[in-house]
Amino acid sequence: MAEMPGMYANDVYDIAGFALGIVDRKNILPKEAEVGDVLIALPSSGVHSNGFSLVHKVLESQGLRFEDLSPFGGTFADELLKPTNIYVKAILPVLPHVKALAHITGGGLTENIPRVLSKTIGAHIDARHFYIPPVFAWLSSKGNVEDDEMLRTFNCGIGMVLVVSPDKVQEVLGLLVGHEANVIGKLVPVTKIPKQVTVENFGSCLRRAHRTLFSPKKRVGVLISGTGSNLQALIDATKETHVGAEIALVISNKADAFGLQRAKRANIPTVVIQHKDYTTREDFDAAMSKELERQNIDIVCLAGFMRILSAPFVKKWRGRLVNIHPSLLPKFPGVHVQKQALDAKEKFSGCTVHFVDEGVDTGAIILQEIVHVLEDDTEETLTNRIHQAEHVAFPKALKLLASGAVVLDANGKLQWC
Ligand code: GRF
Repeated sequence: MAEMPGMYANDVYDIAGFALGIVDRKNILPKEAEVGDVLIALPSSGVHSNGFSLVHKVLESQGLRFEDLSPFGGTFADELLKPTNIYVKAILPVLPHVKALAHITGGGLTENIPRVLSKTIGAHIDARHFYIPPVFAWLSSKGNVEDDEMLRTFNCGIGMVLVVSPDKVQEVLGLLVGHEANVIGKLVPVTKIPKQVTVENFGSCLRRAHRTLFSPKKRVGVLISGTGSNLQALIDATKETHVGAEIALVISNKADAFGLQRAKRANIPTVVIQHKDYTTREDFDAAMSKELERQNIDIVCLAGFMRILSAPFVKKWRGRLVNIHPSLLPKFPGVHVQKQALDAKEKFSGCTVHFVDEGVDTGAIILQEIVHVLEDDTEETLTNRIHQAEHVAFPKALKLLASGAVVLDANGKLQWC
């Protein structure tokens, strides 16, 4: 048995299994990748099972045990032994459209991506386009691990990288809806970059992830008018502390909104502020603002809130006010958007999380999830699938906003930090 410090003692046995598959020769990957091809990533669920000698060393150096409480919520064991994401289900439908797949295991991005590329082609990745779970920032800081070593040892948040030609990107993202797929970079000639894999902004993003870990969670107020399935998605996601946010208040403009029951079940304070009790839109909005401020809310999420907000409210919460909309904005703002997408014979639809400005669904886009429009789609079936995509997109966008990964700049444009 290979020597692995802290893992195997004498007379300890490990049982492993494996699966064997067959493939037609013509379908074998990798196919030849080219400069300009796009890299799409699927997130990891945590450290998976890589870098554990180092993990053990860091824990030991801190005098910590697996059962101790961690800063990530739960114990260190809860975080470090999270089951590894298995990508088969996500990957099977996209196989015909990808040129290569790099499973990011031991060796990280640095060593696994080159395995599917020729020596003359390199990968240029921007760390601002993927989420680095705080556990990696913690390991790097407590273990004094250099950035390059982090990238060579751990997956740092990415479990699988797909190499896709630029014309297939939309299609592949559409097929990966619900799997938090993101474009993270592209292939470049190796001569242009010093190493075969370059991860730009990695150090600053890692440091930011570290700050998130020790800064108080952002308090989120959610405004609803209806069933609140998006509210539920936010509640579920924020139970995981690394989102860096907690749902601290739910306001509804309707007393019978089902979302209120969801909030109560989760012990989240609720307030009903009915617009019909106010003579002007501004007065109604001011009452909401007052309540949000009373509860020290940092971020406001509109989750099926069916009121147009007045300019003073939008101005007051600028950069901290986000909405989810069931189309790929700027296409189809407003209402009945699925019908509009079907009438326009769109091949793709989806949802958008965006900052709110004074216009209707015009604010800077934080992220979008793509959904394929199927030939036999009705308004109802398409709406349902977009809804599912929303439940992935909204928590993801909140995580970016709460961690400071994205901000709205003075010109109303999105900035990645
Ligand atoms: C969602 O489709 C959202 O995009 C739109 O309103 C709907 C709310 O659904 N703004 P739910 O109340 O979260 O289920």
